[in-house]
Amino acid sequence: MAKAQVTISQRGADRIRTGHLWVYRSDVRAADAESGDVVHVKDERGNFIGHAFYSTRSQIAVRLLTRDDVPVDRAFFVARIRAAAEFRKLAVQNTEAYRLIYSEADLLPSLIVDRYGDFLVIQTLSQGTERRKEEFVSILTELFSPRGILERNDPRVRELEGLDRRVSLLSGQVPEEVVASRNGIRFVHDLYKGQKTGAFLDQRENHAAAVAYTSGEVLDCFTYHGGFALSTASRAAHVEGVDLSNAAIAIARRNQELNQITNVTFREANSFDVLKAYDEAGRKFDVVILDPPAFAKNRDSVPSAMRGYKEINLRAIKILKPGGILITCSCSYHIQESLFLQIVAEAATDARKPLQIVERRTQARDHAILLTMPETHYLKCLILRVL
Ligand SMILES: C[S@@+](CC[C@H](N)C(=O)[O-])C[C@H]1O[C@@H](n2cnc3c(N)ncnc32)[C@H](O)[C@@H]1O
Repeated sequence: MAKAQVTISQRGADRIRTGHLWVYRSDVRAADAESGDVVHVKDERGNFIGHAFYSTRSQIAVRLLTRDDVPVDRAFFVARIRAAAEFRKLAVQNTEAYRLIYSEADLLPSLIVDRYGDFLVIQTLSQGTERRKEEFVSILTELFSPRGILERNDPRVRELEGLDRRVSLLSGQVPEEVVASRNGIRFVHDLYKGQKTGAFLDQRENHAAAVAYTSGEVLDCFTYHGGFALSTASRAAHVEGVDLSNAAIAIARRNQELNQITNVTFREANSFDVLKAYDEAGRKFDVVILDPPAFAKNRDSVPSAMRGYKEINLRAIKILKPGGILITCSCSYHIQESLFLQIVAEAATDARKPLQIVERRTQARDHAILLTMPETHYLKCLILRVL
């Protein structure tokens, strides 16, 4: 059979040369390839560009695997997965749940693997990784001997690839609940139904960082399973954790019990309402944490997202005591750090309170950022102090 190949425009080739890994369909000039093929990519002059996954459906038609003319076979993927795991040995400490493979940032586009103790959760988010799912399961089994591998292939992005959305067991056994520690705190994880693959692992280092700034009364809005609340409890007089989801609060309370933490109260409520009520009542806190869901899911929703971020940040700043700490996050890729800083600055101006930037943080290092691919950098976490 002839080798699958794709010819891309000069613009597409230039994009790859700058270190980006994607070529959009509008830059594909010719394609002789099927769903999920590893294709030989060349420019219109016939120059070799690299080997890539090809998608017949997505606007991201080409996802580069390598610029070298090497075989893309099992050994190729074993080497990439080993390299990703080696990096985690350096970057991850004191935790049993972390991201083992982060897609483009590990040069394994559209493959995500999260580790929760002895269990792995895999996401194959394009035709290319979906087609090799069994091979990835075999490699992961060989390298890490997990007790079970679950596919959490329910993200909506799969539809853009013409793939179904599913959650299923791919090997071994995965219990309904897995307890794994993060920063020395034990968390219950529901790998089948929890958000993302079960937890917001990307916030792990920010949970730990928050502890150093904690004292007195803490309000953790959008707490989910209590990541910030239970971490800061060790240095707080009292922490209140708020989330809209009844299921999330139930697990947060179980985590609290599991760790025998007594100075945290979790409650099911809308953070917008809670912040407004405390502001109107004149209640004050030493630390306020804001970690809402992505308000801007796409470029069109940026203006309304900005209003949402502004409102919660304004309320949070108003209810902070002098010297108080605001830990404010945005996981919207479309709200870049400079824009997020601007929104928080406007909130501080409206609240008539000067704020000092103490730290500008991002996603945990196991969710590495590929320098030449801004799409891999999505989480912002600012730590600010009211003067
Ligand atoms: C990004 S997650 C928070 C992750 C968590 N802070 C952590 O570190 O693990 C966002 C959370 O906000 C909750 N949520 C969404 N809208 C909300 C609202 N209006 N009020 C309170 N919680 C909300 C979701 O249920 C979800 O648990």
